[in-house]
Amino acid sequence: MITGGSSGIGQSAAYEVAKRGIGVILTYRGNRDGAVETVERIEKDGGTAVALPLDVGRVETFGEFKTALTEVLRQWERTSFDFLVSNAGVGQQPVMFEDTTDELFDQMMRVHLKGPYFLTQTLLPLIADGGSVVFTTSSAGLLTSRPSPGYSVYGSMKGAQVVLTRYLAKELSARGIRVNAVAPGVTRTRLGDDAFARYPDLIPPIAAQTALGRIGEPDDVGKVIAFLLSPEGTWITAQTLEASGGYDL
Ligand SMILES: NC(=O)c1ccc[n+]([C@@H]2O[C@H](COP(=O)([O-])OP(=O)(O)OC[C@H]3O[C@@H](n4cnc5c(N)ncnc54)[C@H](OP(=O)(O)O)[C@@H]3O)[C@@H](O)[C@H]2O)c1
Repeated sequence: MITGGSSGIGQSAAYEVAKRGIGVILTYRGNRDGAVETVERIEKDGGTAVALPLDVGRVETFGEFKTALTEVLRQWERTSFDFLVSNAGVGQQPVMFEDTTDELFDQMMRVHLKGPYFLTQTLLPLIADGGSVVFTTSSAGLLTSRPSPGYSVYGSMKGAQVVLTRYLAKELSARGIRVNAVAPGVTRTRLGDDAFARYPDLIPPIAAQTALGRIGEPDDVGKVIAFLLSPEGTWITAQTLEASGGYDL
């Protein structure tokens, strides 16, 4: 089950997980066409996928979402699922601390912290013992990265996901559920209303700041998510793995 599977990192994670023979339930908010594209490509390659609408910023809808998810599982003759990838997110325009509004703070908090927190809580009874959860946080939320002025809200919420990962890893270990996070650096997705497609001039300076000399592509991160969920990752929990090609190293 992957939130935000209609483009970018979540879409790539859906392909990578499906390639390993795992059925995928992915969610979208506004981009239904993108979600259909994900499902069709997985099916074309012989996999199984279903797309469901979900706004992670609206906790009051999570009960209804759980019902829809349970129905898909019923059709697959399952009562539980194995992996939750809490990936959905939005970018923000740079806003300095003095100018940050209550509204921006709340929007970022709902989508990146409150939503992922309570969605995991709502779906936990459906996650199989021995399963695994991955959050898509950001290098912006790591204590090792240099803060970029204007991103205090986004960075703080992503940092909160890193901390949440550790607390959930501790509590859910009682059921053998592993909890990790991936922290992408700058990645060419539709984040920021497709910012990289609209402003390609943004790319070369970021590539120059990246040790491996380019910006990330969705597959660079989708593969890491699939790895963390896979049998190769069974001894990894409570970790945040940066996947940034050495951004700002
Ligand atoms: N790209 C980067 O440079 C970068 C770097 C670090 C971390 N990240 C993180 O990576 C994650 C994935 O983003 P991306 O880069 O792949 O961007 P993206 O291509 O814009 O994909 C974002 C996904 O999240 C969904 N989404 C956005 N708001 C939502 C909401 N309120 N409820 C439910 N779904 C919502 C979108 O759905 P719809 O389009 O259908 O609305 C889309 O599927 C985010 O958490 C982002 O913060 C990205």
